[in-house]
Amino acid sequence: MAYNLLKGKKGIIFGALDENSIAWKTAERIHEEGGTFVLTNAPIALRMGQIDELAKKTDSEVIPADATSEEDLENLVAKSTEILGGKLDFVLHAIGMSVNVRKGRAYTDEKYDFTTKGWDISALSFHKVLQTLHKADAMNEWGSIVALTYMAAQRVFPDYNDMADNKAYLESVARSFGYFFGKDKKVRVNTISQSPTATTAGQGVKGFDGFINYAEKMSPLGNATALECADYTVTLFSDLTKKVTMQNLFHDGGFSNTGVSQEVMEQFAK
Ligand SMILES: NC(=O)c1ccc[n+]([C@@H]2O[C@H](COP(=O)([O-])OP(=O)(O)OC[C@H]3O[C@@H](n4cnc5c(N)ncnc54)[C@H](O)[C@@H]3O)[C@@H](O)[C@H]2O)c1
Repeated sequence: MAYNLLKGKKGIIFGALDENSIAWKTAERIHEEGGTFVLTNAPIALRMGQIDELAKKTDSEVIPADATSEEDLENLVAKSTEILGGKLDFVLHAIGMSVNVRKGRAYTDEKYDFTTKGWDISALSFHKVLQTLHKADAMNEWGSIVALTYMAAQRVFPDYNDMADNKAYLESVARSFGYFFGKDKKVRVNTISQSPTATTAGQGVKGFDGFINYAEKMSPLGNATALECADYTVTLFSDLTKKVTMQNLFHDGGFSNTGVSQEVMEQFAK
């Protein structure tokens, strides 16, 4: 169902790789709600993914940008405002990658070059995006910026590895930059802490199947899907959430506040 919540709003969407991507579903929902946007991803992801299909479907242009490159980001923001014909109302940061996870290095055996690279891509890139938008004065008043995170920032999930530290940093940047963006430009900045979701990034985590099934059994409402995350993001980009800022918002079917569920207890009952 569409509500026309984003009619006339313009933005940038990072991180749509394939149809499973949370950013992909979000782009589709924003399109349905009347928003227009530029799609972006790292040059290599543009070659490997299917973003052109999404661009066609949503009548949008694709501008390559490595989110760790200030130059790429400056170009992206300048071109996007040009293409869309004015300042932006929303930006979605849906970017994550750990080289340690990819190369099978345990948390107790990190290769620090990998750690630095993963942190740059997954966490510092959010500061770079915010700083680029702020310096270029590219956001309209009452605009909204969202990044995606995971609860491993607060609690230990051993196989989430160094991404836990990256997410903690990302959430902190949302708070810190949210203060300045709010004061200076009346723009809100939040993170959504999403349930485990079957995407390329999600499935890269060791033991992902166990992880997602456990979360499903622990959550009174069940895991939140990528489409449901897209719906939630639409509300945060709409005018109905103008005073929500500097928050980490759990979107997880109740997982984060559940100690134990009946289903999980049954697994341990004699
Ligand atoms: N899948 C989950 O279980 C889950 C749960 C909570 C939060 N998240 C977060 O949601 C976000 C989106 O991930 P997803 O699950 O949709 O997976 P995904 O693999 O579809 O998306 C990750 C994206 O990051 C992009 N990316 C990687 N390096 C980049 C770079 N240098 N510059 C620009 N883009 C780059 C990839 O190309 C890809 O499009 C991530 O921040 C992820 O950590 C995912």
